Amino acid sequence: MHEFKYRGNDLYCENVKIAKLASRFGTPLYVYSYETLIDHYLKLKSAFRKINPLICYSVKANSNLSILRALVKKGAGLDIVSGGELYRALKVGCPSQKIVYASVGKTDNEIAIAISEGILFFNVESLAELENINRISRKLGKITRAAIRINPDVETKTHKYITTGKITNKFGIDLDSAYKILVLRSKFTNLNICGLHIHIGSQITESAPFVAAIKKVSGFIQRLKSKGIELEYLNIGGGMGIIYDRETPQTARIYADKIIPLLEKTGLKIIMEPGRFIVGNAGILAVKVLYIKHTPKKKFIIVDGGMNDLIRPALYSAYHNILALRKTSKTERADVVGPICESADFFAKERKVPKVKVGDYLAVMSAGAYGFSMSSNYNSRLRPAEVMVTKNKASVIRKRESLSDLIHNEKD
Ligand code: LLP
Repeated sequence: MHEFKYRGNDLYCENVKIAKLASRFGTPLYVYSYETLIDHYLKLKSAFRKINPLICYSVKANSNLSILRALVKKGAGLDIVSGGELYRALKVGCPSQKIVYASVGKTDNEIAIAISEGILFFNVESLAELENINRISRKLGKITRAAIRINPDVETKTHKYITTGKITNKFGIDLDSAYKILVLRSKFTNLNICGLHIHIGSQITESAPFVAAIKKVSGFIQRLKSKGIELEYLNIGGGMGIIYDRETPQTARIYADKIIPLLEKTGLKIIMEPGRFIVGNAGILAVKVLYIKHTPKKKFIIVDGGMNDLIRPALYSAYHNILALRKTSKTERADVVGPICESADFFAKERKVPKVKVGDYLAVMSAGAYGFSMSSNYNSRLRPAEVMVTKNKASVIRKRESLSDLIHNEKD
């Protein structure tokens, strides 16, 4: 469910005609629906009410301050992966005791700042990192909480670039090594190793891999208990898939029904780190048709947004639905491409898309997650503006970049 719907022939975001936003703020333009954002957060919260987990929204999915602030105001915590994300989290007033910090490559400086800020815990990805956090904590005279990220070695049917729970991936620690660490946890004098973490991948549409991974860790938790090793937290990561095309992903309710019984048995406090599920369908990228090009073999619709604005099709061959802001019943087979000098710069390939002419607008749907947050200035393009719609009101939550922004840090 989302709040991007046709009224008559015009695509609306909540009560605002998107074409109006496109002509007022220019294109390419990210448009978000506040209602959709919050609705997804609340859906998850209510599905899991019985165990009342701390839902730490994954900042990397969309790190705009207004998005973060909206979720934090509703009680969400944040899952961060860098000093930059910590900065954003604190900037929007997220209580530090609601921040969890993952990443295989945290620097000394990032670790020290996160310790000083008193985050809830680190999700630790290797023995070397654990030793480093212990060393830095000792230097700072602190005892720091840590959860060990387990690599449960489970299969997920998702793109290979976003699978993280196979033993060949760089993420987490295998069960045997984690066991050895936990048995000797008192050795880490300045750490309180009090939890386990898993995150098996992203855009996972079925429950089976989550269930398999949670079963593995809950067996492990029992094994630890039998050795007198008690923990406090289980962080089950993110990864829930959304509808881009014809997927029928599990709903929050189905997901909850499948895993709550397993989670209850652990007796631990539960943390979740959803990103895409919350923000994915809460945003679109509006683009304008610049040219229509016919070649002997193909038709290209050339638009003013490109892979620097939304890289998912280029990087993961991801499917994003494409709608015309002004509805038309006519379709045609074409490639929708951007202006960038790469053949990977496309939003759709050989697809039946709305028949458009120069100057018309298109919406690249489901672009709220990993859209702006993965954008770049490639080809010295200015990153798009972002607008948040709440009912009848639209506000710019990030200005379009200017030419001076582009060279801001360079020696002239
Ligand atoms: N927790 C951890 C430790 C993660 O690494 C991630 C995502 C999440 C939570 C949130 O996952 P989500 O609920 O959004 O699936 N750029 C890719 C997705 C990369 C996901 C990276 N980690 C894409 O556009 O599909």
